[in-house]
Amino acid sequence: MTVHQPAPPGSRLGELWRILPEESGTTADGVLEIGGVTVTELAERFGTPLHIYDETGLRRQIRRFIDGLSSRWPNSEVLYASKSLPAVGMYRIAQAEGLSVDIAGGGELQLALAGGVDPERLYFHGNAKTDAELTMALDARVGTIIVDNEDELDRLERLLTRSQRLLLRVIPGVEAKTHASQATGGLESKFGLPMDQAAHAIERMNAHPLMEFFGVHLHIGSQILDTDQFAEAVEKISSVGTFDTYDVGGGLGINYTYEEEAPSVEEYLDRIVAAAKSHLPPDARIMIEPGRSIVARSGVTLYRVVSVKRTGHTFVAVDGGMADQLDIALTQQRYEAIIADRLHEPWSENVQLVGRQCESGDLLVDGAQVPPVSVGDLVVMSATGAYAYTMSNNYNGALKPAIVFVRDGEARLAARRETYDDLLATHAPAIAAAKL
Ligand SMILES: Cc1ncc(COP(=O)(O)O)c(C=O)c1O
Repeated sequence: MTVHQPAPPGSRLGELWRILPEESGTTADGVLEIGGVTVTELAERFGTPLHIYDETGLRRQIRRFIDGLSSRWPNSEVLYASKSLPAVGMYRIAQAEGLSVDIAGGGELQLALAGGVDPERLYFHGNAKTDAELTMALDARVGTIIVDNEDELDRLERLLTRSQRLLLRVIPGVEAKTHASQATGGLESKFGLPMDQAAHAIERMNAHPLMEFFGVHLHIGSQILDTDQFAEAVEKISSVGTFDTYDVGGGLGINYTYEEEAPSVEEYLDRIVAAAKSHLPPDARIMIEPGRSIVARSGVTLYRVVSVKRTGHTFVAVDGGMADQLDIALTQQRYEAIIADRLHEPWSENVQLVGRQCESGDLLVDGAQVPPVSVGDLVVMSATGAYAYTMSNNYNGALKPAIVFVRDGEARLAARRETYDDLLATHAPAIAAAKL
C-alpha cells in the first residue's frame, strides 16, 4: 500500500506530492511508487530512461476539464492538445474519456487515427499545412480544419470535393507572460491572422459552397499562470464578430517547482467562463484545448545515475538528458528531481543533475537537493508528462525512451524504447551503398 512517509531532514517530501503524479507515494523503505508500482520494479522491467504515466490521475484530470467546463457552460467541448503527448496509448485514453483531439500535422493525424480517435472529433491545426497533409486529412474525414492563413484557403479551394467544417485562427494581440518561444498570441505571432485580416478570410469561406465556416480560434501560448490573460483573450476575440463557436485555446500552466502556484483547473475555468458570459453570445459553443495541464503532472521521467563526479561542483550524470528533456534547454523551465529509491534518507547534498548529451546546456536541474548519491541510484524528474516525449530526439544517437502507463498496481507498455536498429533503419540507403 502507498504511504506518505514522514519527511527526512532537509527533504522537501511534503511539497513533492503536489508536483508528483496524484497516485504516488512511498514504500516503507523509501522507494517511490506510482500507480501502485515501485520505480525499482519499473526500471527493472522496462529499463531507463522511461516515461511513466499515472493513468488514474490522468483520467481524473481529464474529467476535471470536461465536467468542469460543461457544468459552467453546457454548450462546450474540451479538445486534448495532443502535441503535449502524441502517443497512441494517450489518444486511446482521450477517446475513451470523451475528449476531442487537436492534431498538428500529418504525423499526429496518423497517431490519432491509430489510437482510435473518431475522425469527426479531430481538429487539424498548423500554420504550414501542405497539400499532402490536407489531402490526408480530407481523405480521413477529419471533422474540422483550423485555417491559419489565406494560402491555406487557396489550397482548400483546390482540394475540397465535399463540404468541410472550418474554424479560423486569429491573433488576439495578447502578449502572454511566458517564455518567448511559448507565446503565440502577440501581434508578431506566426500563427493565425491578425484580427483586422480575419474579415476577408471569413468572407471567402462564407462565399465558398463547400466551406462550412463556423467560428474562430485563438491560442495565446503555453505555461500561462495568470488567468486574467485568458480572460483578456476572450474579450479580444469577441470583437471579430458573432459566430457559432469560439475556441479559446489551451495554455494553462502547471506547477513544475516546489514553489510554483499555478491556477487550478477550476480557477481557470471560472475565469474564462466569466469572460465568456460578459463578452460572447450566450448560445455560442465554447471550446478549450489544454495539453500540458492534462498530461504534465501525471508523467515523470525515470533515469539511472551513471556517474557522480565531485569537482568544484557535484555533477550527477544520468542515462538521458536533453535528447529526452529538450524543453529545459529551449525554455529554461526549472524542474525538480529526486533520488527515487532513497526518499527516506536525509537530503543533505546539493548537486548539478546533468544529462549525457554533448552540451553544457544539458543541465537537467541546476541545484537539486538529494541524499548522498551513488552510481545506479534511480532519479525521477517530476512533471515531465508534457512535451518531453514529444520533443525527444536522437542527439548523440540517443534512443527515444519507452512509455509506460501504471494503474492499480499494473504497468502497461504503451510505446517501446527505440532500438539501434530503428536508428539505423532510415540510413539503409547509405548502408546498402557501402556494401556495393
Ligand atoms: C493551437 C494550440 N492549442 C493548444 C495548445 C496547448 O497548449 P498547452 O499544452 O500549453 O495547454 C497549443 C500548444 O502550445 C497550441 O499550439
